[in-house]
Amino acid sequence: MAAPTYHATAKALHWLTALAVFGLLGVGLWMTGLPISLLKLQVYAWHKWIGLVVLVLTAARLLWRWRHPPPPLPDAVTRWERALAPVGHWALLILLVAMPASGWLMSSAAGVSVSWFGVLPLPDLVPRNPDLFEALRTVHFVLSRCLIVVVALHVAAVLHHDVLRRDGIFRRMWPSGRN
Ligand code: HEM
Ligand code: HEM
Repeated sequence: MAAPTYHATAKALHWLTALAVFGLLGVGLWMTGLPISLLKLQVYAWHKWIGLVVLVLTAARLLWRWRHPPPPLPDAVTRWERALAPVGHWALLILLVAMPASGWLMSSAAGVSVSWFGVLPLPDLVPRNPDLFEALRTVHFVLSRCLIVVVALHVAAVLHHDVLRRDGIFRRMWPSGRN
């Protein structure tokens, strides 16, 4: 019998999120150094819009996961890896909520309301407050560094499994892996 893999819905949510997160991290690191310009304003707007897409994808994923738990790990996975895998995955899931939430809060505290893709006005989560804005900016910055570290560890763990151990972990999440 074929080894169990994640459901197609979980895979679609995973890879869309991964793509968006790589883009957001790259663009986020680049955009803050741009001189004040129309380009900077547009890039900031897209960063916010796609960041909020990640929030929606993560909410959908958490709901899906609640009803469809991850498939059991293959026997080759050791006891400590079995204990560590959910810790790493939950760290990612928490950061996928905390990053966009801190961004949205930061924008509200700056007094800049977000209109999603320029068509859906979103409520301000907190009133304008320059001190709170600075604090949330630091939170968003620190969380982004945590996310970079946890994603790097996540990708390194997958590479370790598939390149060194060849235990089929990557296939569990790859679109063509059967479920
Ligand atoms: C998963 C989602 C997100 C990721 C991975 C992400 C990542 C980043 C990164 C890496 C930076 C650069 C930090 C720095 O080096 O100073 C940044 C800055 C920023 N992000 Fe996000 N972000 C996300 C979501 C959001 C959302 C939803 C908003 C607002 C609605 C937002 C608003 C901002 C703003 C305004 C800045 C610039 C702060 C500054 O000028 O210092 N982000 N983000
Ligand atoms: C090249 C990049 C990536 C690869 C190769 C990859 C691969 C994988 C694989 C194979 C799994 C399943 C592990 C298992 O069998 O239990 C997984 C799970 C997961 N990945 Fe990734 N991933 C990547 C990037 C990302 C990124 C950027 C994020 C989000 C920031 C992310 C978040 C997650 C989460 C939350 C899970 C757990 C899914 C669940 O249990 O519901 N991944 N990833």
